[in-house]
Amino acid sequence: MHLMYFPALLFAIFSSLIAFLSSVDVVTAAPAAGTSSIKNNAAAIANQDIVPGRYVFEFTGGPSVDTNSRMLMNFLKKTFPKVRLLMPRVIDHGLLKAVTIHFERTSHTGSTGLLTSSISSDEQNAAFTDIARAVSTLGFVAHVYPVHSVHRPDTRIASIPLESADAALISPNAQTQIDRVHSELRNTGKGLTVGIIDTGVDYMHPALGGGFGPGYKVALGRDLVGDDYDGYKNTTPIPDLDPIDSCSASTGSSGHGTHVSGIVAGKSDNFTGAAPDATLGMWRVFGCTGSTDDDIIIEAMLDAYDAGVDIISMSLGDAQGWPEMLSAIVASRINAKGVPGNDGEHGAFTSSAPSVGKGVYSVASFDNNYNVVQTFDVMCSSPECKKTYVYNLGKGSDSMPSGQVVAGDINIGSTMDACDPANIPRTVSGKLALVQRGTCEFEQKTNNLAQAGAIGALIYNIEGEGSFIPGVKDAKIPLAGVAHETGVELLEDIQQGETYLTFKGQQQAAPTTTGNIVSSFSSIGPSYELGVNPNIAGVGGLVYSTLPRQLGSWGVLSGTSMATPQVAGAVALYLKSIEGKGPRPHPTYILEQFQNYAYKAPNKNGQENVDTPYRQGAGLIQVYDTIRERVHITPGDISFNDTANMQKTHTLTITNEGATPVFYKAINKISVSIIPYDSSSGYQFTEPPVFGTESAEIKFSQTNIQIAPGASVKITVSVVPPNTDPAKHIMYGGYIQLKSIGNDNYGSKDITVPYVGIVGNQHELPIYGNGTPQLTADTNPEKFTPINQNTVFVYDRKSGPKPTFMITLVSPTREISTPLYTENNVMIGYATFNEASVTNLARSISTRPVHAITWDGTYTPTLLGIRVPITFNVLPGKYRIGLNALKWFGVDEWDNWTSGIIEVR
Ligand SMILES: *[C@@H]1O[C@H](CO)[C@@H](O)[C@H](O)[C@H]1NC(C)=O
Ligand SMILES: *[C@@H]1O[C@H](CO)[C@@H](O)[C@H](O)[C@H]1NC(C)=O
Ligand SMILES: *[C@@H]1O[C@H](CO)[C@@H](O)[C@H](O)[C@H]1NC(C)=O
Repeated sequence: MHLMYFPALLFAIFSSLIAFLSSVDVVTAAPAAGTSSIKNNAAAIANQDIVPGRYVFEFTGGPSVDTNSRMLMNFLKKTFPKVRLLMPRVIDHGLLKAVTIHFERTSHTGSTGLLTSSISSDEQNAAFTDIARAVSTLGFVAHVYPVHSVHRPDTRIASIPLESADAALISPNAQTQIDRVHSELRNTGKGLTVGIIDTGVDYMHPALGGGFGPGYKVALGRDLVGDDYDGYKNTTPIPDLDPIDSCSASTGSSGHGTHVSGIVAGKSDNFTGAAPDATLGMWRVFGCTGSTDDDIIIEAMLDAYDAGVDIISMSLGDAQGWPEMLSAIVASRINAKGVPGNDGEHGAFTSSAPSVGKGVYSVASFDNNYNVVQTFDVMCSSPECKKTYVYNLGKGSDSMPSGQVVAGDINIGSTMDACDPANIPRTVSGKLALVQRGTCEFEQKTNNLAQAGAIGALIYNIEGEGSFIPGVKDAKIPLAGVAHETGVELLEDIQQGETYLTFKGQQQAAPTTTGNIVSSFSSIGPSYELGVNPNIAGVGGLVYSTLPRQLGSWGVLSGTSMATPQVAGAVALYLKSIEGKGPRPHPTYILEQFQNYAYKAPNKNGQENVDTPYRQGAGLIQVYDTIRERVHITPGDISFNDTANMQKTHTLTITNEGATPVFYKAINKISVSIIPYDSSSGYQFTEPPVFGTESAEIKFSQTNIQIAPGASVKITVSVVPPNTDPAKHIMYGGYIQLKSIGNDNYGSKDITVPYVGIVGNQHELPIYGNGTPQLTADTNPEKFTPINQNTVFVYDRKSGPKPTFMITLVSPTREISTPLYTENNVMIGYATFNEASVTNLARSISTRPVHAITWDGTYTPTLLGIRVPITFNVLPGKYRIGLNALKWFGVDEWDNWTSGIIEVR
C-alpha cells in the first residue's frame, strides 16, 4: 500500500468557506462572476441541493463492505418494507468504506412504511431522520449522510485567440511571480501531477498536449459519468476511461474543466499556465448539462488519490458548504495523508465531523491586471476629436454596429438615463444611443432604446468607474459598456456636432481598474467558526485560458474557480523546488509558507488602506519569494475570535531554515475593518460591505527579533481590540509584519501573518430578522401574505394549502428545533420538515432574503421524553409549532418562536 504514503495536497474551495458576508456587488454586473460567488453559497442551503431519497451509509469497519452492505440492505428492507431500495454505489477504500442507497417509492398511494401519506420528494427527505435513527441501532453503520447535488459550473465565454504581445500582458504569471520561477529558477513543475475534478478536458487542444494517456500532458483520469448524465433526469452514470469534454456549444456547456486545466499547466506559443510542464489528471464528474452528486465527486477524489497525484484541484463553486458534508470530510482525510508516515493517525474513520479547515486551502480571488478588450474609433466634425476608446461588448451581444451616436436621454448625464421611455429623444432612431449606467436595469434601458428605434446602446459607467461588461439576458439591440470618462468625452463630441463610431471588433489586452485587488465576487469570510477564511489568494478575475476547440479554443472566465487552479499550479512549482531535499512537508506547512510571503492588496486601487484578511486571507501568492525565502512562521494566520471566546494571546514560532542570521522588527500593520450591519436595519448585513478604520492594538513580547541559522524564536502577540460598541460587531483585522532589517539573500523579505477578530458576542446575535418567522398559505418566498398570529390556520389534508413558514436568517444557524405543541401548549413531539430546511443554514442574503419551509402535517412523537424514530401523521386537531433556532456558538442558546394555532383537518 505504498500509495497510502503518497503525499496529496488538496485544494477544496468548498470545504470550509462558509461566508456569512456577501460580496455581491449589487450595483455592478461585471465582471461576469464565474462560479463561486456567495450566491451559490446561499443556493447550497436550498432544499433542491439534497438528492431526494439518496443516502450514503458509512461503515465503522466490520467484516467487509460487501457483507455490511448486504446486512444493511436486509435491515432496511425489513424496516421499510414498502420502499424499493437501490444500491447505485459501493465505495470500498482505505479512506472510506460506504454504500449509497436510494429509497424509491413504489406507489403513489397509501403508506410506504416511511411516511403515512403519499410521498412528495420533500416528504421523502423528511424520512432521512427516520432512516438515521433506525440504523443508529446497527453497530456497523457509523454515519448517514444525505447525498448533495452539485451544480455544473456556469461561466461566461468569450472566444479570443490573442497574439503574443497581448497574450503576454494578460498572463497573470507576473502578478504572482510565477514568471520568475519559470525564467530564473528554471522550474516549470516538470514531473509533478495535478489531479483535477471537473467537467472533463479537451486534451486535443494544442496547448494541452494533443492526446491522452501516458506520455501526454493529460496522462491520468477518466470519465465517471458520460455525456448524457445530468444528475436530474438522467441519473445513471455511464462511465468510461476517456475524460474528454466534447460537449457542443448548443448544450450550454461552459468548457470549465478545459479552462481550469490550461490555468494549471497549459503550454503553447503564446500561452503559459502556472506549471506548464506539469502532468494533469482529469476526473470528469459532470455530463454536458445539469449537475452531479457529491458521492460521485467523492469517488473521483479517492480515484485521484489512488492514482498518486501530488495535488488535487477542485473548483466546484456550488459545493461550498458546511464541514459536515461527506465530501469535505473525505477531503480532509486525503489531506491528512499528506504526511508521510502518519498513516491512519489523522482522524481517518472518525465518524464525527473532523475540522475540515485544517490544511485545506480556501482560495480568494484577485483580479487580473489586464483584461481582453475591444476598441472603437471616433470621427466627428472637429479634427481633434478623432480618438480610440476601449469598450466591452455586453453579455449576449455578438457585435456592435458602427454608425452615428446621439444622446439617449433628453436629460443625459444621470443614472436615470433611458429608464423612462418618455425621456428618450426621437433622434435615437436608426442610431447608436449613449446613456449612463444606473437606477434601472440594463434590460430596461436597452429595451426602451430599442423601442425608440436605436440600433445599439453604449452605456457609460457611473462617476469614477472604469469600463465594465453590461449583462442583459435577451437584449433587443446590441449593447456595450465604456468607462465614465469615455462617456463624458463622447458627450462633449456629440454636443459639438455629428459624431460617428467605428467598432472594429478586434481584441487586445488593456489594463483594468481593479487589477491586483480582491475581485468583487470573491467571498468574504470568516468561517462560521471565525477562523481566517479564505486563507490565500490567486488570480481568478478575468483569466485568459484554454477552452474546448468546439467552444472557440480560448476565452476569458472569472471566478474563484480560476484562482484555485493557479494556486494548485503554484504548489506544484513549490513541490518541484524541494524535490530531493528530504520528506515533503505537511500541506499546512506549505500553505503557511505561501501565506508568509503573500502580497497584501489595498482595499481599493489608489488607496493606502490595506484590505482586510476577511477578504484576501494572507493575500496574493508570491511564488518566487515563497520558494526562495528560508524563514518560516507558524501559524500562518491568527483568529482572536469574538469577545466572549477571545483568545487574546497567540504564540508565533519563527524558524530560520537558512545558513545566516536574520533580523526583524515586529510591527502591527492594520487593515480596514468591516462594519457588518447597518445600524438602521437591525442586524441586516450591509451588502456590499461597508469598510471602516477601527483597529486593534497588538502587544509583542519582543519587537526586535534575531534568529541564528537553524534556530527558532517564539514571540507572543496579544490583542487589545478596538474600543467599539459591541452591539456593532465590528470585524477588525490586520497583519503582524516582521520587517526585515539589513538582511541580504534570503531573509530580505518582510513576513506577515494575518489576524482577525470581532468586537462583540456572536452568540448574542438574533437569528431571525425581517419580522420572521411568518406563517402563510403561500409558497413563494418572494410574494406571500402573512397570517396573523391570532388567526387559526386551517390545513385540510385533502384540499391544502399546507402551512409554510417564511424565515429570514440574519445569522447562520446549525439547527432549527421544531417542537409540536397541542392547543394547550403540551409538547407531544417534533414537527417533521425536510432535513435540509432546518439544519446547517447559511444566513440570508439580499438576493435570497427569505427561505420557505413547508409542513405536511407529520411529526415524530416523544414518549417519556424520548423521541420515537417513526414519523406519523398528526391526528386532526389544533396545534402550534415552535421554530427554535440555535444561536451562533450556542450550545443551548436559542432564538425561539412559536406559531399561532394550526388546525389540521
Ligand atoms: C502567437 O502570436 C504570433 C505573433 O503575434 C502569431 O503570429 C501566432 O499566430 C500566435 N500563435 C498562436 C498559436 O495563436
Ligand atoms: C471561536 O470560539 C468558538 C467558541 O468557543 C469556537 O467554536 C471556535 O472554534 C473558535 N474559533 C477559532 C478560529 O478558534
Ligand atoms: C427554546 O428552544 C429550545 C430548543 O427547542 C428549548 O430547549 C428551550 O426550552 C426553549 N426555551 C424557551 C424559553 O422556551
